[in-house]
Amino acid sequence: MDESMTQEDMQAGKEALLSGWGEIEDLVVTHGKEAVFWDIEGKEYLDCTAQAWSLNTGFNHPRIINVVRKQLEKATHIRSTFYSLPQLQLAKKLSEIAPGDGAKKLNRVSFCLHGSVATEGAMKLALKSKGGGQFLALFNGYHGRTLGSMSVSWPHPHNDFPSYMGNTIRVPGAYCYRCSFNLTYPRCRLQCADFIEEAIEKMPDGKPCALVMEPIQGNGGQITFPQEFHTRVRQICDKFGLLLIYDEVQTAFARVPALFACQLYQVVPDIIIYGKGLGGGFPIAGTLSREGLARFSSGDHGFTFGHFPLSLVAARENLKIIEEEHLLERCHKVGNYILGELSDLQEKYELIGDVRGCGLMIGIELVKDRKTKEPAREETQHFVKEALKRGVLFGASSYAGLGNVVKIKPPVVITDQQVDRALEVFEEVLRKLS
Ligand SMILES: Cc1ncc(COP(=O)(O)O)c(C=O)c1O
Repeated sequence: MDESMTQEDMQAGKEALLSGWGEIEDLVVTHGKEAVFWDIEGKEYLDCTAQAWSLNTGFNHPRIINVVRKQLEKATHIRSTFYSLPQLQLAKKLSEIAPGDGAKKLNRVSFCLHGSVATEGAMKLALKSKGGGQFLALFNGYHGRTLGSMSVSWPHPHNDFPSYMGNTIRVPGAYCYRCSFNLTYPRCRLQCADFIEEAIEKMPDGKPCALVMEPIQGNGGQITFPQEFHTRVRQICDKFGLLLIYDEVQTAFARVPALFACQLYQVVPDIIIYGKGLGGGFPIAGTLSREGLARFSSGDHGFTFGHFPLSLVAARENLKIIEEEHLLERCHKVGNYILGELSDLQEKYELIGDVRGCGLMIGIELVKDRKTKEPAREETQHFVKEALKRGVLFGASSYAGLGNVVKIKPPVVITDQQVDRALEVFEEVLRKLS
């Protein structure tokens, strides 16, 4: 126990917090290293969530700590309207590695600190480029918790802010395990994509300006779409002159085996939203967009702390780490191994309805009955608690109503032994619940 705070003091602190999550994981976390963290009692946990799917290169990578320490000596805050070397270096690097070629290259970069604010930046960019219009967004999508980003997210089950929700048109994605049309891929010929097309065609009040989607839905339940769905969506946007916005806040920078998930699907969106994994544990987010779109002018999208030198140097170093430590290859290898093991478990345990994912963005949908696919919601919450008792933190979806997806999304620096330990606990808990 850390002596600087008593149990009573900590309780008072918890009660003082306006928002406290901690329903499943009532942990006071003190420190971490690579894929492991410790709580205040000194108990060690293997983190299969990378905290918020954000520590792709693990806790406190020494190279990141080193560059941040150096930057600390220089300046921790620089006004957004000034330039700085960390900002220019990172902008240059991101514009170089951005997807796309020629006029379609996404080489215009914006920075802020949160994915939600970056979503709003992308929305503003679309509105400015297209002269207004509505947004199209997918069922089960998640794009943040500011009012603007909530307006394109799937309504949270306890959404208390409907009066501020924008007029978004919601359309189904190719969630093939629970098809909105009760069809099976590929025989369905992507009726969901046909539906999107028809929804745009029949809009009574003009064309939307953009379609916003995650290439792989995270909070909505780890939903991957077939390649063909991505291709169709790009074609539909081109046909109707809509911008395609890929929210890669979760998927970019080594969560999947490509710097950007859109590269896995050979689709170049018009705007990418990034965040989480870039900063190696420091807050940074923003957009990448192509040159032909609008630019922000003063007053459009500036924030006091939007130009945060510590995050900028951390992000630059993090990109070097991903490259030099070959973390995309590692993500591919470890992800395939885990998916293979989970498929074997699926044959043994009825509780597993579906296993899906890509790289280290894996979801296991638990069902009470494989035929009816009734979501095993309580079992999922129980699953995470039981695993936590055994020192392994898995994620669980609580968004989008179903709440029955266990998530395995560890830092890419997780070792082979740690992966096996996580899978051992996974099966132990499955056995107990089955
Ligand atoms: C796909 C996606 N977009 C946007 C966000 C919002 O990012 P932030 O929590 O940094 O505001 C998240 C966060 O979970 C996300 O998963």
